[in-house]
Amino acid sequence: MTDRYAVIGNPIAQSKSPLIHAEFARACGHAIEYGRILGPLGGFAPCVDAFRAEGGKGMNVTAPFKLDACAYCTDLSLDAQLAGAVNAMKFEGDRVWGENFDGVGLVRDLELNLATPLQGLRVLVLGAGGATRGAWLPLLRCRPAELVVANRTVDKALDLVSIARLHLPEQAQACRVRGSGYAELAGLSFDVVLNATSASLSGEMPPLSAAVFSPNALAYDLTYGKGMTPFLHLAQEAGVTRLADGVGMLAEQAAEAFAWWRGVRPDTADVIRLITVPLA
Ligand code: ATR
Repeated sequence: MTDRYAVIGNPIAQSKSPLIHAEFARACGHAIEYGRILGPLGGFAPCVDAFRAEGGKGMNVTAPFKLDACAYCTDLSLDAQLAGAVNAMKFEGDRVWGENFDGVGLVRDLELNLATPLQGLRVLVLGAGGATRGAWLPLLRCRPAELVVANRTVDKALDLVSIARLHLPEQAQACRVRGSGYAELAGLSFDVVLNATSASLSGEMPPLSAAVFSPNALAYDLTYGKGMTPFLHLAQEAGVTRLADGVGMLAEQAAEAFAWWRGVRPDTADVIRLITVPLA
């Protein structure tokens, strides 16, 4: 029987995962089926149970089920535990392995696709919600010179600093890790500014001064397919020429999942070209 995979979310029609995985499977010569499942709100577990009972091998998980997936898994990776969210599951008998590849996907996109190795750079992350929690330790492992997280609710930013000190004490000490509100960013500038708030989804933006961008900065919005978000507009008006959205991160986290399930890591360049929506 052909191995079956799917992405589960609600809504789900917008998901690019079936397209991405079909392309990876074609490129790697693997015969797989990859579908999309509209999970009923409040009915995640029975829906996944049914997929497994039909022989499903693995699933990607998108909003709003990443926390439900975390509770459903029998075994969680450290990144998934710390994110409190799972975006990929692998089924083996009674075991359900949970991973969160968003952070590693982001880092690969920054370092490889966008040729911006983070070691020694000053990195600012906006937002301290689920997206940042998933990316936080992968970013710190790259040993930036500074890693600052700014959030409206400052306590959530400070929690991330504690997590860094607890789990990666050596890196947290070598790199200046800080959490703050937006006002405290006055007078500071950064080489990489990552918008990990959910503000772009509603056409809003965090209360950010254009002065945070250093002259050759990279401005990166973790959302994808939204074109020039208010955050990217601000960066552009500040003279930033290196602008990116999360399309590469999406492709890279998918490639991590494919490799985890199938044992082969597909190349992402063709997929990125296929799903990129021009920013202009
Ligand atoms: P996600 O899983 O997408 O990260 P989340 O966990 O709900 O979603 O987190 C959303 C993040 O975006 C939070 O950091 C939130 O800030 P608060 O923690 O202070 O609520 C941030 N956010 C959402 N809308 C925002 C806006 N208009 N301006 C600034 N920050 C915003």
